[in-house]
Amino acid sequence: MVKTKIAVLVSGGGTNLQALLDAQREGILTDGEIVLVIASNPEAYALTRAAQAGVPGVVCSRKELGSQEAFEEAISRALADHGAELLILAGFMSILSADFTSRWPRRILNVHPSLIPAFCGKGFYGLKVHEAALAYGVKVTGATVHFVNEVPDGGEILLQKAVEVLPGDTPEDLQRRVMEQAEWNLLPQAAQMVAEEIRREKPNERL
Ligand code: GAR
Repeated sequence: MVKTKIAVLVSGGGTNLQALLDAQREGILTDGEIVLVIASNPEAYALTRAAQAGVPGVVCSRKELGSQEAFEEAISRALADHGAELLILAGFMSILSADFTSRWPRRILNVHPSLIPAFCGKGFYGLKVHEAALAYGVKVTGATVHFVNEVPDGGEILLQKAVEVLPGDTPEDLQRRVMEQAEWNLLPQAAQMVAEEIRREKPNERL
């Protein structure tokens, strides 16, 4: 079987990357293979996780590269060098332009820590999402995996899971519960779904 080549884009701790690596090892992600990790930040602990799993890691920092164009060119080059077919944004905190996303229709997945369309879009990332959910007073939140298009958090939804908000939750408590109960399961599940679809479309799989 020719597996779908997956690149995971990260910026921070990389617990979602870890969930994908574990899912690959445990036979949950069977139709895809993580061939590359791209970090927008040279300090990202996710790079250590990649190295520990024997997956090549590349840093593409918008700040260091100077412009959005140069940043996306560096990402595109790394993707081409590794033959990536599916991109997974796993805590990737940089915005990708419409020019970039339009070249990967239904081929970029993102995990977002709320039930879209609540608490999403520009300015809603990481802990800020949970702070906003607690400030609003919602009793249920969750996570969403969606395809990425030119609208931040606006692409077609693939999977969602609800998670309870408990009295006295801090943003950190809620973030952890949403990760444990939703993100770390949903993301590998969605990766497997799309990796399988891509694998089936390959000409040599149809023979
Ligand atoms: C995750 O909660 C992810 O859903 C969120 O950042 C965290 C990254 O954690 N992503 C966004 O907010 C994107 N809008 P991780 O580095 O441990 O996977």
